[in-house]
Amino acid sequence: MLLRAVLGLVVLLGVSTSKAKESRGHISVVLLGATGDLAKKYLWQGVFQLYLDEVSHGHTFTFHGAAQTEPERGKKLVFGRLKKLACPSDVLPDRCAVLKDQFLRLTEYRQLRTAEDYASLSREITILLSQEGLEEAGRIFYLSVPPFAYAEIARHINSSCRPRPGAWLRVVLEKPFGHDLRSAQQLANELSTFFQEEEIYRVDHYLGKQAVAHILPFRDQNRHNLDPIWNRHHIERVEIVLKEMVDVRNRTGFYEEYGVIRDIHQNHLTEILMLLAMELPANISSSEDVIRSKLQAFAALQSPEITSAVIGQYEAYNSHVREELQKGQDYFSRTPTFAGVLVQLDNLRWEGVPFILASGKVLDERIGYVRILFKNRAYCAQNESAWDSERSQCKLKQVIFYLGHGELNSPAVLISRNLFKPAMLGGSWTEVQDHPGLHLFGQPLSDYYMYVPVAERDAYSVLISRIYHGKKVSFITMENLLASWGFWTPLLDSLAGEAPRLYPGGQENKHLLDFEMVGREVSFVVKETVQVMNAWDEQTPDKYKTIQSRYRQSQLITAWPEELISRLASDIEAAAMSAIGCSGEFHLALSGGSSPLALFRQLAVYHYGFPWRQTHLWLVDERCVPLTDPESNFGKLHDRLLHHIRVPYFNVHPMPVHLNRRLCVEEDKGPELYANEIAALVANASFDLVLLGVGIDGHTASLFPHSPVGLEGSQDVVFTESPVKPHQRMTFTLPLINRAKQVAVLVMGKGKHDIVTVVSRVGHEPQKWPVSGVNPSSGQIAWYVDYEALLG
Ligand code: BG6
Repeated sequence: MLLRAVLGLVVLLGVSTSKAKESRGHISVVLLGATGDLAKKYLWQGVFQLYLDEVSHGHTFTFHGAAQTEPERGKKLVFGRLKKLACPSDVLPDRCAVLKDQFLRLTEYRQLRTAEDYASLSREITILLSQEGLEEAGRIFYLSVPPFAYAEIARHINSSCRPRPGAWLRVVLEKPFGHDLRSAQQLANELSTFFQEEEIYRVDHYLGKQAVAHILPFRDQNRHNLDPIWNRHHIERVEIVLKEMVDVRNRTGFYEEYGVIRDIHQNHLTEILMLLAMELPANISSSEDVIRSKLQAFAALQSPEITSAVIGQYEAYNSHVREELQKGQDYFSRTPTFAGVLVQLDNLRWEGVPFILASGKVLDERIGYVRILFKNRAYCAQNESAWDSERSQCKLKQVIFYLGHGELNSPAVLISRNLFKPAMLGGSWTEVQDHPGLHLFGQPLSDYYMYVPVAERDAYSVLISRIYHGKKVSFITMENLLASWGFWTPLLDSLAGEAPRLYPGGQENKHLLDFEMVGREVSFVVKETVQVMNAWDEQTPDKYKTIQSRYRQSQLITAWPEELISRLASDIEAAAMSAIGCSGEFHLALSGGSSPLALFRQLAVYHYGFPWRQTHLWLVDERCVPLTDPESNFGKLHDRLLHHIRVPYFNVHPMPVHLNRRLCVEEDKGPELYANEIAALVANASFDLVLLGVGIDGHTASLFPHSPVGLEGSQDVVFTESPVKPHQRMTFTLPLINRAKQVAVLVMGKGKHDIVTVVSRVGHEPQKWPVSGVNPSSGQIAWYVDYEALLG
């Protein structure tokens, strides 16, 4: 078979032995999965484009289509496809026809299955090179195969298909690169046993889309204009969107396992987000600098909560799944086919700027875009009819990277004329002067400077050329991949149990999938039409929201979790106002654990009037771990609350568990230090409000059943031992808690129902149930218990 290619080399390219000596070397391109869909749609055309671009630049080439398909059939399939290769508009038809003919002669099909098949491919390349007197420059293996096949192919390439020493090897992989952080890590480890990281090219084809590939150059070429405005003070929001009309028929097997977030958000949309959000390196052509900067941006991503996303599923999806995967009528999938996610970064440039990442199938149009909407600072004294100039400061200001499809049906970069006229260097973009009467994102096209590529290239052609040039910056490094999975995996885990909103598809979706941001959360604008009916009072649904009654002879407030948290937050704010009214200060002691986390968020997001300046924050208990440890109560308080409010540093009082570079050692006297700090700052060591929780064993703070210390006595703060890890704790004692003016006990979730029932019946038995010893001597106690904990 290669004989044909040899003839191609010698006869058509005129590579005589002397000429071969001048060659910059020979490159073998091996396309595995050569008969597959991706190869058919994009890869062969991309490889041909590479040949057209590079044939006269000194390298010689052979192309090897490979698959498991047996030779006759494979050859027929591949050459059937190759005959249809298109000539790009910027190559003269005659020249293209000649080059296409050459390309076909330089291409072979071969079956690659066994180790021997790989060894024989390598042998034949070596023989060809020596016959032609060519030096080998490198080998590209493009694996367009399912991921389960990676390991075996990788082993064969590594053991029998490496090029001669000194020549390069580039192995190209297509997503999915794992399913979550753990599987991505596993795959990365596996591949690293066969290849160096610099030999691996992980493709995200969105990085090859011309408008995406131009984001960094655009930022670079327009530094002067963008530097002052590319930040939270000027940017209102960023939208990164891929809308599709197709459904997932014929790929439901894949889709059931992945869903839209793994398919689109984790890779394409996240990569774009990084190009926009990263600090711009001084030299954007340095892969190392760009990758370093990207990783820093990943590190600044705020972990998304379950409330950072809305998900949907097109109505016909379940029937597609049942049909293709032979599932029964009772099979209901929760795989989302639409998701809108609000992403935020915690750094000085982007704090508070919403990045909206949205994508879905069976929507009303096919379009992909990145829209950066700037804040408008102008107040316009005259009405809209007077905003005649397209440069008017009253009009919208935006930068748009239009990825394709939609009304423009071509990639484009658009900049509102009232921003600045951009530099578009390098000759690959051209300005469009006459604008059809289109409107885009709220403005007529005439309000934008608009640029389109001089020659349109599909993403795979761009990337194949970059593989050839070794431009790693356009590919996903292992660190980059793991950082992205690290960001998405917790959200995917928490969304796994959520039911997506069903949508009919296309125009019919109307406003069903519109979503809005409220603080750091997103929710659908149109609320569900089917609501759980209120069992207590159908006429006035608000009434059932919070019910007040008595528990252990004290006030009981009970509600669904959201309302309960919102009530507790309001009560804490009221307590703060009243304490400050009396003494000028509010001393609030907060418990750890998971129940208060929602409260912290509530306070951070909705209580803008909270008097944080006069509030002192204390910890009721702490685990003996460094404050930066994920188990640290202070760490959680920091991430969920302190980080988002303006509380003076000197009002924050973490428990001193870490002293003299060691954790909770008696002789360092941490509890005494904390007790002294309390005595010095809190009048009579009587807190204005202490927030507690209850464990399933009846513990409260870190006071566990049968604890030898802390349940009585004269100490205010002590070390205790927890039956669960981390065992060592520092905690307020019952006597200190009982000196508080108010105590709020927050109990949520079905898991707490049994202990809530037990504690409702017992008297004062702190040895058995420490929480039963909470009984402020002159203060009040209120129980905040959600319905599930109360009613089970
Ligand atoms: C792929 C996804 O990565 O990207 C598909 O797996 C999606 O689900 C496709 O349709 C979109 O790419 P493009 O280039 O058509 O916008």
